[in-house]
Amino acid sequence: MQEEPVRILILGGGGREHALYIACKASPRCGGVVVAPGNGGIPAEDCREVDLENVSAVVDCARAERAGLVIVGPEAPLALGVADALRAEGFDVYGPGEVGARLEASKAHCKAFLDRQGIPTAAYERFIDADAAFAHLRAGSGPVVVKASGLAAGKGVFVCADRAEAEAAVREVMVDRVFGASGAEVVIEECLEGPEVSIMVMVSKSGYVCLPPSQDHKRAGEGDTGPNTGGMGAYAPAAVVTPELKDRIDRTIIAPSVEGLAREGIDYRGTLYIGLMLTREGPKVLEFNVRFGDPECQVLLPLCAHDPLDLMLRCARGETLPAEVAARGETAAVIVVAAKGYPGAYAKGEAIRLPADVPANVQIVHAGTRRDQDGALLSAGGRVLGVVARGADLAQATADAYAVCDRIDWPGRYFRRDIGWRQLQAEK
Ligand code: AMP
Ligand code: GLY
Repeated sequence: MQEEPVRILILGGGGREHALYIACKASPRCGGVVVAPGNGGIPAEDCREVDLENVSAVVDCARAERAGLVIVGPEAPLALGVADALRAEGFDVYGPGEVGARLEASKAHCKAFLDRQGIPTAAYERFIDADAAFAHLRAGSGPVVVKASGLAAGKGVFVCADRAEAEAAVREVMVDRVFGASGAEVVIEECLEGPEVSIMVMVSKSGYVCLPPSQDHKRAGEGDTGPNTGGMGAYAPAAVVTPELKDRIDRTIIAPSVEGLAREGIDYRGTLYIGLMLTREGPKVLEFNVRFGDPECQVLLPLCAHDPLDLMLRCARGETLPAEVAARGETAAVIVVAAKGYPGAYAKGEAIRLPADVPANVQIVHAGTRRDQDGALLSAGGRVLGVVARGADLAQATADAYAVCDRIDWPGRYFRRDIGWRQLQAEK
């Protein structure tokens, strides 16, 4: 049966949203895509100026575009209930409502959910009072992790080697309020050790499918040093997740999470991003996000042998999903090309010239870019571009991506040279 083509509205303007735009455009089910606000990689006629934190403006935009599906990229509009407002007007939405989005918007809420469902995670305490948090730190010893409970663009987590560092983190978050109201509550948890992986689970009313496990690189510096960022590069599938381990993660973490959502009356339709640490005692949850990872999305969509738009439509409509999503037998890597100084202060408005020709297995995805009146490309954010490559293995994928990174003409760029280093060492 021939399905009606669907008009799509994507909310967001980062690399993830450009990758979603590319995947939707390539789908046989696509009847047009617009992105709000979009970025310099998306043709201007497909971009719309909308304030994503203004829920009624988003609903007006979906109406004006006669959207058959709205895909919500980032967490902030989800936390504000944009998906609920759209659904109330009859739109199909890929992304959870406000209650589901609390799993990311409040780390304290997420930890309580994990406890209620008996899902393995780091031991923790939560505090709304700074003095109580300081007292807790004085009573303990050894490394801890201090987390601002609210949204902090991936920057509100401090892995602290000792008490002095932990006290400084609590001061920054709760007293100095560097993340504003997001620091009204902190979670202080046990420091876990082991390799990290993420699994994006696409959840429909009646089931879920997992995309291949991926590994992000959150630190700004090579060798995983320096401050945390939104993510400096990623690859998938992460070979550290063997089929046996995937089964265990499914049994102890993924299935109980999705079933727990249903048990708690949450009709979750969208991506559940499960951040995991593979500890000696087994896999444990570090965090949930309620949307695709950025930059993980950029490698997962090209690996998906099943049309991603079809999967998102099925989730949004609460339809059944295929039991498994076939992955192409390849590895994909993305190198994030950032502005020098990110995640601290950096310049904007710098001219960027991209190579005119890139190999067929490589794609340049835009994030913080814009066009000037003449159509010239300018930097406009911290994470500016992502160079995505597919290859037979990780060594080939990263080599092909780096060859293109080196041909980007922009003196103000910075990227890590070691994306995938753990797996590359193991492949040798
Ligand atoms: P989150 O946003 O909660 O995933 O935290 C960001 C990063 O901090 C994670 O990707 C980990 O590298 C690190 N992290 C978070 N929680 C812990 C923990 N309990 N133990 C060790 N590292 C952690
Ligand atoms: N790359 C990590 C995230 O999207 O949260």
